[in-house]
Amino acid sequence: MDYFGELYYRAFGSKLESRAEAEARKVVELLNPRSLLDVGCGWGRHLRYFLSWGIDAYGVEPEPYFVSTFKAAYPQWAERIILGRIQEVKPFRTFDTVVSLWTSIGWDDEEDAIFARISEFVDKDGYVLVETDNLDGWRTHFCRRWWEKVDNGFVLDQHKLKGSRLHSRREFILGGEHRVIERQLKLFSLEDIIRLATPHGLELRKAFSSLDGQPFYQNAPRLCAVFQKVT
Ligand SMILES: C[S@@+](CC[C@H](N)C(=O)[O-])C[C@H]1O[C@@H](n2cnc3c(N)ncnc32)[C@H](O)[C@@H]1O
Repeated sequence: MDYFGELYYRAFGSKLESRAEAEARKVVELLNPRSLLDVGCGWGRHLRYFLSWGIDAYGVEPEPYFVSTFKAAYPQWAERIILGRIQEVKPFRTFDTVVSLWTSIGWDDEEDAIFARISEFVDKDGYVLVETDNLDGWRTHFCRRWWEKVDNGFVLDQHKLKGSRLHSRREFILGGEHRVIERQLKLFSLEDIIRLATPHGLELRKAFSSLDGQPFYQNAPRLCAVFQKVT
């Protein structure tokens, strides 16, 4: 998975960091967690706020660069981040809240195993929040080429949407450096996410178009679904 790592962090790190505290606060306002697992936590931009607010939080992340970045920045919380893909991490305990923020599913075609494992990590009556790209939003607002100004340069994305699969060619132009990375992301509609969650005892409680708590609409660019574990 070379799409995430040092280059991604250099390009998007400070932009994403600038929104992290507000996003983490929205999660707390929505779900008031006492314990929380952040699935695909990246370099822990939300995890560090959850921990600093006294929440008994852990993160799981498969990208070694992100994990070592978190450990170097917060040595006091080094054991709070676990290296691995969520479906391969043993359920070592349960949490009242499990979150997947900023599209951490769809990268490896194992979404059923991911939901199965997420469900094992959540307490009975606990909550699972999934915040991700919305397939129906992509279909409606499809944009083939996209330039973005990032730290130290530009990123150009060129996308093809084949069914629910988004194929992207990403060019990083950072200072004098020029790198090209290809990626594939499987996108989900709200119905897809519900279909994946329901067999694992997760019932939809609320659906938003963002962490802000705005109501969901079919073509929203993003979706934020909150499930409760019922069995
Ligand atoms: C777009 S990033 C978002 C990271 C973080 N949640 C944030 O908001 O900054 C998606 C993350 O999901 C992670 N990821 C991908 N597949 C995963 C899996 N099977 N289990 C856990 N994390 C995964 C990636 O390594 C990446 O860090």
